[in-house]
Amino acid sequence: MNSQHVKATDDIVALSEVSKTYRTATGTTHALSPTTLNIRRGEFLSVVGPSGCGKSTLLTMISGLALPSSGEVRIDGQLIDKPYDRCGIAFQTSVLLEWRSVLDNVLLQFEMRGIDPAPHRAKAMALLDSLGLEGSARLYPRELSGGMKQRVSIARALIHDPQLLLMDEPFSAVDALTRDQLSMDLQQVCMERGRDLTVLFITHHIQEAVFLGDRVLVMTPRPGRIAEIIDIDIPRPRRLEDIGREKQAQYAAHIRETFTRVGVFRQSKTEQCEGEAA
Ligand SMILES: Nc1ncnc2c1ncn2[C@@H]1O[C@H](COP(=O)(O)OP(=O)(O)OP(=O)(O)O)[C@@H](O)[C@H]1O
Ligand SMILES: [Mg+2]
Repeated sequence: MNSQHVKATDDIVALSEVSKTYRTATGTTHALSPTTLNIRRGEFLSVVGPSGCGKSTLLTMISGLALPSSGEVRIDGQLIDKPYDRCGIAFQTSVLLEWRSVLDNVLLQFEMRGIDPAPHRAKAMALLDSLGLEGSARLYPRELSGGMKQRVSIARALIHDPQLLLMDEPFSAVDALTRDQLSMDLQQVCMERGRDLTVLFITHHIQEAVFLGDRVLVMTPRPGRIAEIIDIDIPRPRRLEDIGREKQAQYAAHIRETFTRVGVFRQSKTEQCEGEAA
C-alpha cells in the first residue's frame, strides 16, 4: 500500500471541480472551493485541515450522501449521484445501537442490505478478533469502553468488504494511548487488505495523518481548497516510536509550515518583527 507500489494511473475516486455551497435560512456558506482530486486504488489518503474547511463535506460527497453544488464525483468511472453502497463509513462517534450486541451491530450491515446475516457470523467474529475485540461479541455497547466502541464501528464499516473506507475523525473521541493503538491496528488492517482497500481518513491530528498516510492532503481555511498533497515516503509497517523522530517529524513540521503559509496558524508577534527587520 506504499504509494511507490501504487500505479499512478490506477485511480479509484475522481473528483472533478467539485464544490459545495450550503444554502440555509440565514444565508449561504461556501464550504468547498472547486476541487479536483484523484484517490489512488489501495492508498491511504489522510486529510488535514482547520475546522469548518469542508473536510466532512468532501467525505459526504464521495459517499454520495450529499451531492456537489458543481462538478462531479466518480468512483471506478461511475457517477456518484446517490449513496454509494460499496464504501464503509466510520465517524467520530461509534453510533452503535444500544439494544444490539457487538456482533449484531456488526451484522447490521447485511440486514440493512436485505442479506441473511447468519452465513457471515464467523467472518464477523474473526474481524472482531483481528481488531482486538476477542471475547466481546456478546457484550452490549453500554459494557464497552470508548475505544472498544470505536473498534466495533470500524468492524461494522469493514464487514461487507468495501473497496473504499471513509473515516471522519474516527479516533478523536478516545484517549491518547487508545488512539495510538487504534492507529497501529488500522495500519495492520490496511496492510493485510492491500489494494483491495482504499482509505480516506480525515483528522485534525497532523502526526496521525503522517503516521497513517501514503499521502497527506492539506487543506486551507473555508472555503476549503487543496493547499498541497504530500507523498509520505516512509516504509511500512511504521512504528509509533518513530512519530517524533526524523522523517515523520520532518513531514509534520512541513505541514505546520504550510498551515502558517495559508493562514491557519498566525505567526507570533516576535516572528513578525524578526521577519520585518530582516
Ligand atoms: N448541512 C449543512 N448545512 C449548512 N451548512 C453546513 C452543513 N454542513 C456543513 N455546513 C457548513 O459548511 C462548512 C464546512 O463544514 P464541514 O462540516 O464540512 O467542515 P469540517 O472541515 O468537517 O469541520 P470540522 O473539522 O469542524 O469537522 C461549515 O461552515 C459548516 O457550518
Ligand atoms: Mg468535520
